[in-house]
Amino acid sequence: MTEINHRKADHPIHAIFLERWSPRAFTGEEIGKEELLALFEAARWAPSASNIQPWRFVYARRGSEYFASLLETLDEGNQRWAKNASALVIVLSKTHRVTSTGEVRPAYTHAFDTGAAWFALALQTQLAGWHAHAMAGIDRDKAMRVLGVPEHHRVEAAVAIGRIADPSTLPEDLREREKPSQRKPISEFVFEGRFRAD
Ligand SMILES: Cc1cc2nc3c(=O)[nH]c(=O)nc-3n(C[C@H](O)[C@H](O)[C@H](O)COP(=O)(O)O)c2cc1C
Repeated sequence: MTEINHRKADHPIHAIFLERWSPRAFTGEEIGKEELLALFEAARWAPSASNIQPWRFVYARRGSEYFASLLETLDEGNQRWAKNASALVIVLSKTHRVTSTGEVRPAYTHAFDTGAAWFALALQTQLAGWHAHAMAGIDRDKAMRVLGVPEHHRVEAAVAIGRIADPSTLPEDLREREKPSQRKPISEFVFEGRFRAD
């Protein structure tokens, strides 16, 4: 069975699923706007309930006036390494939708749909020779303020996109963690017919 990055798939899958991982060591090089937009193009084609497309992305490219303010919305532990990203992205979702009668209703699948879009972005990033690293460690209220996000939107996560660098460029504590992680076996989360609690 496929083995890549010291990860072994127990069933045959495309190599991209084992190749993708979340490094923290980034080169700090710049990324072109068109190259970055091509990554969001993949997110664009994610599926969503009623094709509502509730995902929203706010990005800042390294070298732009926005980079520092997006970086400052991250928790300090993430800023330590994400400062070397080529682009930072805040992933948001639209939590409500307006019906044809003008009623504002919660969009039940906003987070699920946005998760699909983020992962399309992550896979396209990997295919394009970059890496994407998601972060929940973000000050959501600050991000709402800094980005000027209106109500009925939720900050889901942040993403650092960059070109992978040698682990030696990281502070020592992070260097030790700089390797692709493993997973539970399928038998622990896939059940036939009935749910099985842990
Ligand atoms: C929603 C989400 C939030 C995460 N938050 C953080 C974070 O705040 N800081 C961090 O260093 N990594 C974060 N990660 C990275 C995960 O730790 C990582 O994806 C997980 O350990 C699996 O490893 P892999 O992506 O290398 O396969 C996050 C990942 C996801 C999907």
